[in-house]
Amino acid sequence: LTAIGIFDSGVGGLTVLRALKQALPGESFLYLGDTARLPYGAKSADTIRRYLKQNVDYLLRRGVKAIVVACNSASTALDDDRRVSSGEAAAPIYGVIEPGARAAAARTVNGKIGVLGTRATIRANGYLRALHAIDPNLEVIQQACPLLVPLVEEGWSEDPVTRDVLQRYLRAPLEAGVDTLILGCTHYPVLRKSIAEAAGPAIRLIDSAEEMAQLLTGELARGAIAAESREQPNLEIWTTDTSEAFREVGSAILAPYSIDHWDWADIG
Ligand code: DGL
Repeated sequence: LTAIGIFDSGVGGLTVLRALKQALPGESFLYLGDTARLPYGAKSADTIRRYLKQNVDYLLRRGVKAIVVACNSASTALDDDRRVSSGEAAAPIYGVIEPGARAAAARTVNGKIGVLGTRATIRANGYLRALHAIDPNLEVIQQACPLLVPLVEEGWSEDPVTRDVLQRYLRAPLEAGVDTLILGCTHYPVLRKSIAEAAGPAIRLIDSAEEMAQLLTGELARGAIAAESREQPNLEIWTTDTSEAFREVGSAILAPYSIDHWDWADIG
């Protein structure tokens, strides 16, 4: 048996890895952070689709048994075929959009849902389509929040500057009366406390990391992915650039879990 592969444009997806590690302690994980090419959230759909394919091919070459696309921007480029193959290898692939949309649709009371994401995620309308596939009557207010990723990467999760920026981004969804907000980006769970404060106590926050952990737990339980229960599961991180800053931010996001191996990935 092998590891579960997971990829993101950078360190943000470690929020998803952390949630998976917590939910599935016996599993090994191989994480690919495409740090040489981030941010994905500012790129065109064609470029993101190309990156998605390269990252998937890399993880398949590494022999993973399943692939989790932690990146929301990249998840919007996934098509409906939920099994990917390359050469001899094949694996089921999971994006974060559907589980997040399902959770939001289940938890809203007034049928008004806000979606926060990068420009690429909002432009692709992935959450909007997924929500309307569940219930066409849902009112969906989408808000691109391009300043939030750099603020998280700067470590300013609870800074007054971040609070001001959040108030500005949340104005439209709150004025529209949403009762549920989808944190549609890998970095936003790090801002959960500040987002909750800015949104107020009545708003439900949907964290794609937690929803993915629940989905994968179900997939392992029903045998769609072969389950493993190792005493010493392995946690490897491979990045396409070797910048040191990511190690610091990454280790803080992943705590209390530690990394067994960190290396440079030649994705070709
Ligand atoms: N991982 C991206 C996402 O979830 C955010 C960072 C980026 O723009 O690359 O959309």
